[in-house]
Amino acid sequence: MKYPKEYLDEIKTRLKVSTVVSKTVKLKKRGKEFVGLSPFKTEKTPSFTVNDEKEFYHCFSTSEHGNIFDFVMKTQNLRFGEAVKMLSSLAGMQPYTFSKQDEEKEKKWKLYKSIHKNFSEFYINELFKNEKSIKAKNYLKERGLSVTEVKNFNLGFVTEDLNYYEKLTKDFDEEIIKETGLFYFDENRKKHISRFRNRIIFPINNISGNIIGFGGRIIDDNKNLAKYINSPETPFFKKGSNLYNLDKARRLSNKLEEVYLVEGYMDVIGLYKNGIENTVANLGTALTSKQIQILYQFYNHIIICFDGDQSGYKAALRAAENIIDEMKPDKKISFLLLENNLDPDSYVNKYGKDKFLEISNQKSIPIHKFIFQHYMGLTTENPSSKAILEKKLREIASNIKDNFIRKYTLEYFLEKVSELTPNINSKYNKIYKKFPKSLDKTKSYYNETKSLKSFEIKEFSFLYILLTKPKLIYKNLHLLDNVKLYSYENKQLYHKILDQSEHLSNLDIQKLDVDNNLISRVMNYASIKHIISKNLNDDEKILEIFNEVIQDLKNYELEQRILDLESKFSQDMSESVFNEIKELKKQQKIN
Ligand code: GTP
Ligand code: MN
Repeated sequence: MKYPKEYLDEIKTRLKVSTVVSKTVKLKKRGKEFVGLSPFKTEKTPSFTVNDEKEFYHCFSTSEHGNIFDFVMKTQNLRFGEAVKMLSSLAGMQPYTFSKQDEEKEKKWKLYKSIHKNFSEFYINELFKNEKSIKAKNYLKERGLSVTEVKNFNLGFVTEDLNYYEKLTKDFDEEIIKETGLFYFDENRKKHISRFRNRIIFPINNISGNIIGFGGRIIDDNKNLAKYINSPETPFFKKGSNLYNLDKARRLSNKLEEVYLVEGYMDVIGLYKNGIENTVANLGTALTSKQIQILYQFYNHIIICFDGDQSGYKAALRAAENIIDEMKPDKKISFLLLENNLDPDSYVNKYGKDKFLEISNQKSIPIHKFIFQHYMGLTTENPSSKAILEKKLREIASNIKDNFIRKYTLEYFLEKVSELTPNINSKYNKIYKKFPKSLDKTKSYYNETKSLKSFEIKEFSFLYILLTKPKLIYKNLHLLDNVKLYSYENKQLYHKILDQSEHLSNLDIQKLDVDNNLISRVMNYASIKHIISKNLNDDEKILEIFNEVIQDLKNYELEQRILDLESKFSQDMSESVFNEIKELKKQQKIN
């Protein structure tokens, strides 16, 4: 069984080699390529290179060489079919099942593409050759477009009264023509009419550059007609999963870090004309998470620049709330709000490329700030208004998928919100500063333990046993294998203990070169200190407790890794990550 070439090509277009490889090999950018340590050989100096433009990896020490399919086959020991399944899911595509349905669909897809190509070519020709297109040509000229842009974006004009539909039916079945949604049947005239008649058409390509739909603009102001219309949704044209101009803009991602996401076809073309080619547009519908995930495959920084009018602002806000869930540590989403009702097209035509890039640098604000500023702007002095603000912000933060981003976004919001209660904050600080000594010891002790994390207290217990029974642990040194501490201070103390006492053979706490506070924290907060001091001479009991503490620490590590992977899995749905999670959960049960 053979996968259709188109299907494999689409996977390759959607996934950069570096994206696939960096899931298993740490890569560093070097010029146009990435380098890393070979996954095929143990080595200290990187000899493994990835080239996204040429779509391959090459390992200089083993001469291994290939594309993304070869890479996952070799590194994960998969057969070709398994590699295709895994990568298509990573690319966010439907699996190809070789069923009759899939084959049928593939056949239709080829026809669908042909019809669109045919339609586009026919009406490009009409724009250039038909005398009746003079108005359309003048309109494009008025909008500042030259032949270069018109040709580059393959704009066409759908002239009236041609028997194009009849011509098409000579080569294609009416059933498949109907599925394209390019025509409708006019009952009065008993004729199939193009839905784009009298409109300038903008072909919409999929990521591989095949036309899958059109946008069409009227050339006369006419309040009774929609200014723009798009092809309807079809099995091959899903607005929420495509972006206008992505097929061209993605090619610049090897050189540029950021991509502009704008609202309209004309914005993309206007920016392009002014030398800003890393631009895509969503297709007249609300921005989706899917579109963000697709852009993330290519770009680390998405700058959303919608129209500077009220509706553009509203759309930007809706987009921000829709997609903040998708934030990831290594990605950035910013908003560039234009003033004076300008849209990116009119802005860049008026002020030029340099000015646009300058404000983009200076005025773009990160997504969390944009959301905060918006809701803050709506908040009044009224307590319930402030309460609504805090609730709303907490709710938005709580939906973020990535654990770390969720935590820090919430922290950012709460920090900002706390500025609304200056009295509560300062009173709290004053009391604290004024009467620190009057707080009795147990109370401060209680408060402090409350601020400690559960794993820190476990780590204290671990260190406590090391400090109080070093000789015993020295005799059972294997217990320390693979123990990992998380808190920075505790880790330091642990290494100092091991270094200075030659692995606990001759520990003298007095001589330890560490901050005394570190040691007293351990001595105070180790939760097991009472049991240990009661059983100080029962070595077996102490070893048993020590073992339990270590198991807890290891479980904590597993838990963290699972959480991390789960957040990764929710983004890329990769099978290998899923299997890793399964494996870790198994280990967790064994422990
Ligand atoms: P110009 O007036 O040609 O400069 O348009 P623009 O690029 O500034 O477009 P505008 O800001 O009016 O709209 C942005 C995008 O929204 C367009 O590219 C279309 O995708 C979509 N859109 C605009 N008007 C309509 C409409 O009347 N109907 C539909 N379905 N979509 C529209
Ligand atoms: Mn606009």
